[in-house]
Amino acid sequence: MDYSNLVSKAFEGRKNAYAPYSNFKVGAAVLTEDGKIYTGCNIENASYGATNCAERTAIFKAISEGHKTIEAIAIVGVINDYTYPCGICRQVISEFASDNTKIILGKGKNEYIVKTLDEILPGAFTKKDLEK
Ligand code: THU
Repeated sequence: MDYSNLVSKAFEGRKNAYAPYSNFKVGAAVLTEDGKIYTGCNIENASYGATNCAERTAIFKAISEGHKTIEAIAIVGVINDYTYPCGICRQVISEFASDNTKIILGKGKNEYIVKTLDEILPGAFTKKDLEK
């Protein structure tokens, strides 16, 4: 599977990053079950804890437009290295992931690695646990 387009979209999202405090810009792009793409960026706040990560911005855009499942999410942060999603974002991804959801870490349009949720969040607490 070629995720270069999704990684490009994450770079586009990154351009809008509002990160005046950390200067750490992050972009994300969510691919939905029907092929739509939603981009996101991190949005910081003078009250630091109110900051929203790029992944959650993109995911919340997709979910608020009626989507239920994330096919893939691309994340780009620092240039020339891979930026993994933070713990909170991993948890939010898990809420909308299927067994096939891919997490794409990009450091260039054609330079990315593909992970599964189980690799980056083993033993996740999910809605299935609430049914026990
Ligand atoms: N950040 C993200 O947008 N995604 C992550 O998964 C890691 C952290 C942002 C939050 C904050 O604006 C900046 O990176 C530094 O933590």
